[in-house]
Amino acid sequence: MNKKISVIGAGNVGATTAQRLFEKSYSEVALIDIAEGLAEGKALDILQSGPVLGLDNYISGSTNYEITKNSDVIVITSGIARKPGMSRDDLLKINMNIVSEVTKKSLDQSPDALVIVVTNPLDAMAMQAFKVSEKKPNKIFGMAGVLDSARFTTFISQSENTSVNSISSNVLGGHGDTMVPLLNNSFIGGKSLTESIEPNKLDKLVERTQNGGAEIVNYLKTGSAFYAPSASIVKMVDAVCADAKTVLPTTAYLQGEYGINDLYFGVPAKLGKNGIEEIIEYELSDSEQADLIKSAEAVRETVKAMENLS
Ligand code: APR
Repeated sequence: MNKKISVIGAGNVGATTAQRLFEKSYSEVALIDIAEGLAEGKALDILQSGPVLGLDNYISGSTNYEITKNSDVIVITSGIARKPGMSRDDLLKINMNIVSEVTKKSLDQSPDALVIVVTNPLDAMAMQAFKVSEKKPNKIFGMAGVLDSARFTTFISQSENTSVNSISSNVLGGHGDTMVPLLNNSFIGGKSLTESIEPNKLDKLVERTQNGGAEIVNYLKTGSAFYAPSASIVKMVDAVCADAKTVLPTTAYLQGEYGINDLYFGVPAKLGKNGIEEIIEYELSDSEQADLIKSAEAVRETVKAMENLS
């Protein structure tokens, strides 16, 4: 596709995203990292897979944002992971500063680009990027729900011995253990989960989804998930670049939708060339609505903590 995508952060998530985008024939991919040589080396390596795969598109890497000039989409994955002895607030402050810096530097080069934030804690980082961007909220959003829903679908598929293609699941809310898998608005072959799976079994699938990221961290010991996250990012990039009007769970700026105001939060959104073109409001059960509000309170606490640190 004749689009230029820049990926900021050439770590596991960023580099894998860049590889997927290159392999999907996006005409130009630019990879940026603060670590000298890292983005250059990984991009050159990916570029050299071109002749093997029969691809003539282009990828480059740098510490210098000039290579990102005139991007259509910017994906922000730069940040640091929590290290031993580091408090949540320490991490919040560091990642907040990183996201602010890279958002500004990227938008200096590509003022019209759409921005997809991936760095955690996701909802708060999306809010921070929005604040420093001076952009309309439809142009700046976060990736979390596509991943959380993919995890839920995987577990449902395994449990019910049904193709992932016959399952449509929806996970909304904040990206963390307060996320809200919607049981009446998720379906196996058109039948809702509440009708299809007995409650105890369903509770276990929900719990495993809510701990989906931690389950992988426990296996890996160092680092966190990146294959499913990068696939999820590319799904969102595809939706906006193809102007596909796909409805995907998206971390969007809410202005009263679902009873939540002035907060980035996971909701279904129609994605097209203008970014978020519509926020879809489902009819929720009372308990789902209550869970969503609880999740919003948790996100708001993180945002407040972030504001107090700045
Ligand atoms: N500018 C550019 N790159 C930066 C900056 C900065 N100011 N600060 C850090 N980085 C880079 C690091 O050098 C590193 O290469 O961001 C990269 C992050 O990569 P990883 O540590 O491998 O983290 P990753 O697994 O890719 O996750 C990135 O996505 O899913 C989220 O929770 C995850 O917040 C994390 C982010």
